[in-house]
Amino acid sequence: MASETVASVLPPTTEVDRPRLKIQGIGRDFHTKSGVTHAVSGIDLDIQRGEFVALIGRSGCGKTTLLRMIGGLLAPSAGTIEVDGKPLWKGSRVDPTAITKLGFVFQESNLFPWFSVLDNIALPLKLRGVGKRERRERAQELAALVGLAGFEKSYPRELSGGMRQRAAIARALSTRPDLLLMDEPFGALDALTRERMNLELQRIVLETNSTVVFVTHDIPEAVFLADRVVHMTPRPGRIRQILPVDTPKPRTIDLQTTPEFNDIVRALRQDLDEEH
Ligand SMILES: Nc1ncnc2c1ncn2[C@@H]1O[C@H](COP(=O)(O)OP(=O)(O)OP(=O)(O)O)[C@@H](O)[C@H]1O
Ligand SMILES: [Mg+2]
Repeated sequence: MASETVASVLPPTTEVDRPRLKIQGIGRDFHTKSGVTHAVSGIDLDIQRGEFVALIGRSGCGKTTLLRMIGGLLAPSAGTIEVDGKPLWKGSRVDPTAITKLGFVFQESNLFPWFSVLDNIALPLKLRGVGKRERRERAQELAALVGLAGFEKSYPRELSGGMRQRAAIARALSTRPDLLLMDEPFGALDALTRERMNLELQRIVLETNSTVVFVTHDIPEAVFLADRVVHMTPRPGRIRQILPVDTPKPRTIDLQTTPEFNDIVRALRQDLDEEH
């Protein structure tokens, strides 16, 4: 009887085993006046539920292009992307139910200047027709989660860059996305703020069990946050190597002084150097 009870509260096995994201043979060409750019080609990648994958690679290697295809913003020229076993793209049309589970954070925080922090965070809920009271409550919880309690009524111009980026993360989390796509979200921050943001992001992701695809140019940041680091090379953008980072989580900043951490950083750096 006990096992029946356990089985009844667990999702069916297929739900647990199936990758959250299944990317197969994905490619994207851009046709411009000066010819065709093979931005991304032949990408195969399975991402598990709750996994944190960092994408690194030189400028122009196709990281943003890949992220936009996963995020339903750009149709692939080839291949398939499945979200929970369902195709995300049908030709150039995106499955609208799949993208409701996504949260996107861009390099710039993209907050609306005329909305308060709270209204910015609550906006995706408003667009989905969630009632005022519920969305304010949820936005308040999220503001606290990203360390912005007390700043709910502030306007973006009154916040520091790091605070704005945290508000953007809270906004991306407002719809409870279990897939978070982040394109160099901390690129514009100073080293200390960035370190704090890394810790905060790790905490939020662990708390919400989100699956994350995170683009960064910063190798230590990738190794610190990720379960796997995917190194892409340009023209066409392909996967060159995938490095697992097995250190248990939550990780502390001290990890960055350990030999195991530095070995992985060194290996990735060397691989980037040897690209050509
Ligand atoms: N809309 C577009 N039209 C034409 N070419 C594009 C377009 N978007 C991207 N590309 C080309 O595709 C390639 C990959 O670009 P992408 O923005 O994905 O690179 P990236 O790895 O994100 O670079 P960065 O690290 O500089 O952000 C580049 O050669 C770029 O010129
Ligand atoms: Mg980019």
